[in-house]
Amino acid sequence: ESAETAYYQEAYRPQFHFTPEEKWMNDPNGLVYHKGVYHLFYQYYPDDTVWGPMHWGHAVSKDMIHWDHKPIALFPDEHGYIFSGSAVVDENNTSGFGSKDNPALVAIYTYHLIEGEKAGKNDFQTQGIAYSLDNGDTWIKYEGNPVIPNKGVKDFRDPKVFWNDKVDKWTMLLVAGDHLQIWESPNLIDWQYKSEFGRNQGAHGGVWECPDLFSFKVEGTDEVKWVLLISINPGAPNGGSGTQYFIGDFDGTTFTSDQKDERWIDLGRDNYAGVTYNNVPSNERIFIGWMSNWDYARDTPTEKWRSAMTLPRKLSLQKTGDSYELFNYPLKGFDDLLEKEPARNLTVASQGVSEIPFENYNQSDLQFRTGESLFELTYKNSLEEQVVINVDRTTMTMTLNRANSGKTDFHESFADPLQKMKLPNLPEGEVGFRIIMDSSSIEIFVNGGQYAMTSQLFPNENYNALEIKNMDQKEMTINDFQLSKVKSIW
Ligand code: FRU
Repeated sequence: ESAETAYYQEAYRPQFHFTPEEKWMNDPNGLVYHKGVYHLFYQYYPDDTVWGPMHWGHAVSKDMIHWDHKPIALFPDEHGYIFSGSAVVDENNTSGFGSKDNPALVAIYTYHLIEGEKAGKNDFQTQGIAYSLDNGDTWIKYEGNPVIPNKGVKDFRDPKVFWNDKVDKWTMLLVAGDHLQIWESPNLIDWQYKSEFGRNQGAHGGVWECPDLFSFKVEGTDEVKWVLLISINPGAPNGGSGTQYFIGDFDGTTFTSDQKDERWIDLGRDNYAGVTYNNVPSNERIFIGWMSNWDYARDTPTEKWRSAMTLPRKLSLQKTGDSYELFNYPLKGFDDLLEKEPARNLTVASQGVSEIPFENYNQSDLQFRTGESLFELTYKNSLEEQVVINVDRTTMTMTLNRANSGKTDFHESFADPLQKMKLPNLPEGEVGFRIIMDSSSIEIFVNGGQYAMTSQLFPNENYNALEIKNMDQKEMTINDFQLSKVKSIW
């Protein structure tokens, strides 16, 4: 064990999720693949474990699982703190910052001028750009910043930029309080407003944040649909921060959707501000979220650092019945970390309980399939702390209860309310369940990621038993039950 990895011994330090070595982190930023590596930038405050003047922290990885920490990429300047945004590779040197031989990596982010905010102005958020010619190691801010000034929109931020083949230009998504704006540019410098979406659609319990937009071929068909991600805070169904999605169409300048219901990428309390990678060579759509919630993000009981990212997840669009469903599921590559035991089939008597001990559930991956409709899974430890997952397919509901999961009293809203997830479009019959637990998190995927629930947990001792309770009047059958230890990434 080296000095750099000593921090993996710290209480609650995730063993296979990305965390900063120290201090405060929030949103993932600038997710882009370039020259063989996946970049992960993130909202970072290097001087404290609570939110403060924002920088972009930086890490790189070949597989989005093992990460190398890099020096801070972007520091605040006279235009303000560096808020969330994205990064692109300017292959055709449209900006003139690089060359065709050495294309610039360009970061597009929000400037937040704290003095302006404190003075009660509404124009304190603007959009800026910076570029790197050495694969993200050093950055040069564009001298003409900001590239999009602010005409008095209080919340005006989180630019996501991508190359848009339909118009042969760069498209920028921006949020403006209660709606999305779409802008366009030939060169990443000169931007033109094009359209808006959402003033009267979707959830509006809080400000819209961190937009993303991408297309999919609906699996098994030739149909193409677009998906818009919008994070909101507060206003998530289980309280505080959450990420909703809209399925619709994009003609190159305008996004439309006739979706009536509210959809959420994850119904757990701790998956926020997630966005996807640009330029992934396999063309997969890969998502990473921030595993926390603004309700209590500043109060979680870790000492040297605060918060982690979700596992990287592959998104896909599938059709069940008449409904399009956005699936999110851990990347296949994650399976390389699993020390798999052979899969087995189990039965639990009617109204019975089966207990499965395991050395350390806080470093485990559990997968199984079942068609049963009334059961409960309880992870336990010797301190009688527990986390309870209840599945009731008669009411199409799953709940997660972390009220007695360990440390919960650092913030009144952490243990309450019960996290509830409706499963309205779950197909009939046997479906897969997958539960991945790290030192301080649980990620639950139902039916290959049709429904997901991500939640932080702070047990005072690792969980070492799993209880499966059959609440039905008949024997419960569980197929392909496979419990694996997850290797540490260091
Ligand atoms: C989302 C967010 C963004 C903003 C950033 C500031 O969590 O509020 O809208 O850019 O965090 O750190």
